[in-house]
Amino acid sequence: GNHGGVKAGKLTFKAIPPNQLDTLIVPNGYDSSVVIRWGDEVVPGAPDFDLGRQTAKAQSKQFGYNNDFVGVIPISDDRALLVVNHEYTNEELMFPGFTSLDALTVEQIKVAIAAHGLSVVEIERVGRTGEWKPARSKRLRYNRRITALETPFKLTGPAAGTPALRTVADPKGYTVIGTLNNCAGGVTPWGTVLSGEENFNQYFVGGDAVPEADKAKLNRYGITTTARYPSGSRKWDRAQERFDLAKHPNEANRFGWIVEVDPFDPDAPPRKHTAMGRFKHEGANVIVAKSGHVVAYMGDDERFDYLYKFVSAGKYKKNDRRHNLTLLESGTLYVAKVTGDSPTAEIDGTGKLPTDGAFDGTGTWIKLVSGNTSYVPGMTAAEVLTFTRLAGDKVGATKMDRPEDVQPSLKTGKIYAAMTNNTNRGVGSNPGVDEANPRVANKHGHIFELVENGNDHTGTSFTWSLPIVCGDPAAADTYFGGYDKTKVSPISCPDNVAFDSAGNLWISTDGNALGTNDGLFATPIEGSERGALKQFLTVPRGAETCGPFITGDDRSVFVAVQHPGEISGATVDKPASTWPDGDYAKPGVVVTWRLDGGPVAS
Ligand code: FEO
Ligand code: CA
Ligand code: CA
Ligand code: CA
Repeated sequence: GNHGGVKAGKLTFKAIPPNQLDTLIVPNGYDSSVVIRWGDEVVPGAPDFDLGRQTAKAQSKQFGYNNDFVGVIPISDDRALLVVNHEYTNEELMFPGFTSLDALTVEQIKVAIAAHGLSVVEIERVGRTGEWKPARSKRLRYNRRITALETPFKLTGPAAGTPALRTVADPKGYTVIGTLNNCAGGVTPWGTVLSGEENFNQYFVGGDAVPEADKAKLNRYGITTTARYPSGSRKWDRAQERFDLAKHPNEANRFGWIVEVDPFDPDAPPRKHTAMGRFKHEGANVIVAKSGHVVAYMGDDERFDYLYKFVSAGKYKKNDRRHNLTLLESGTLYVAKVTGDSPTAEIDGTGKLPTDGAFDGTGTWIKLVSGNTSYVPGMTAAEVLTFTRLAGDKVGATKMDRPEDVQPSLKTGKIYAAMTNNTNRGVGSNPGVDEANPRVANKHGHIFELVENGNDHTGTSFTWSLPIVCGDPAAADTYFGGYDKTKVSPISCPDNVAFDSAGNLWISTDGNALGTNDGLFATPIEGSERGALKQFLTVPRGAETCGPFITGDDRSVFVAVQHPGEISGATVDKPASTWPDGDYAKPGVVVTWRLDGGPVAS
């Protein structure tokens, strides 16, 4: 309802204009500060950051690179655990004197591998404001780096231990070293973090030498099988042989999962849940269904890939955390089939609304696997879970415009998914437009709203519509919930979504195709102001806006500033951004708050 005075549907901040400034901008009456940046201490006693003389050992205790997902899990009113993904590395912005990936030393490659993964950082409120800083005064027993270099993970669920997941180093197929390309994620009701392993394909070499029978599977996941080294290869096999598929053909199958991290148990290995399927997981966000089952919504971020949901076999028990920690290990995995309700001829590819006034329709969740039972002809349950994309292909799932973050609103139960863009839609021999992906060469993306029939999250039928079709509001091919388009902010390439306690939808962007910096936006999504989108924040040059996370008291909005200065030709010696410290670019997590201490949204 009405937490801290936020009126549902009211967003009173004044929208900030699009810009190309090399700084982080928030509205008048708000402030921001960097909570933690690349190289800062995470594990107590971490060496001071030393650009140019970095070691993997130091990086394994310091905040990693390219922060993406941000979760803030309260310990008390003024203490919390900040859990952050480190998706990938920009070696050209990390190592002075950088000339090429080939010229990196093995130690530098290990630094990059250690800069991947996650960080858990205890934070504390500054005074009585919405500002937060890393806690420095305590023993910090939760502070932890999880890296791609050496952190062991446990595989759970029906595919764990099956042949496709076994390697020489792990003959039983239950233990994986590290996590790769962790993109978005979610916080569970039991206080753990889910993290999606996304573009894991880019780390592997030697795909040309795998058995012929495996090549189609690798190709479907974007792994090159025609050359030893894909173009621009990081050649991580120079540091760890397991990244060479010629020698370890199953290693790639051990990535592409949803990871669950319990930040309150620093000694517990994080888990990779095979029951939730394997694809280029953007992230996962859960809601507890009326029945008590836990339902996770998930996107596969690739042009023409699919939306999924997972329904747990067990039920959530409010005061039984040990039980809740097992819920994602067993259940039913579904993929979405989406159908429009307007005549096909009215979806002409220009973004013009059909005569019924909406891009909308119905859909079904197609069951792929339940427990150890496969519902896909010719595939076992373990095969469906390990090669989920091939299962989705077989059952005729709907090819979407790059499903990024998918998140249910805990206020309404409706689910929102960012379709970030798909410049191949309807181009050449690629699939054409449909009502859910209605624009040819979709460069600005759209928001997809899904409403489960009867608001039953365990059900198999839904309705859907597109509340926002992104771009320049002055352009005819955009739509903002029917709201007056002269009063909304331009938006392009929605990536992550989040909600404040009033249920307003917050959207961050990646790759703004309108030529200005990426940022964070908010809009009411119910009532007469549906689609009244306003820009809340912009990030510095070359950066994408990740997170975002709005605290339960609505007083703090966290964002991750990812890859600042990632502009063609820029290096750490010749930076395109000097955010945040005025010297060279560093990814960092930022918190924003209202100067008068009030809730951000009111
Ligand atoms: Fe890592 Fe789909 O963004
Ligand atoms: Ca329609
Ligand atoms: Ca993303
Ligand atoms: Ca989200």
